[in-house]
Amino acid sequence: MPNITFILADESVKVVEAIEGDSIMQTAVDNDIEEITASCGGNCSCATCHCIIDDTWISKVGAADEDETAVMESAIEVTANSRLSCQIKVTDALDGIVVHIPSSE
Ligand code: FES
Repeated sequence: MPNITFILADESVKVVEAIEGDSIMQTAVDNDIEEITASCGGNCSCATCHCIIDDTWISKVGAADEDETAVMESAIEVTANSRLSCQIKVTDALDGIVVHIPSSE
């Protein structure tokens, strides 16, 4: 099972095991990361699952597509590494990924 390291807004670190095929958003929700409210349930329409991918991992995750970028315009603290976590599927290739959760989420 791939591990995901979440770094929360208060700098606390939570390392969780993810299920391959789940989204990073689903993994966060399943592991009680309350900052990810995921109001739209993963339909790429709310931006309440906004996260920032660590610099060391962004090349593996890739950039948001046009639709995701449009939805992210309603998020706060958007950076070049911002993604909607519901749009990132967990694979073995992402084992060890580090994901930051902005304070505004
Ligand atoms: S859960 Fe709504 S955009 Fe990701």
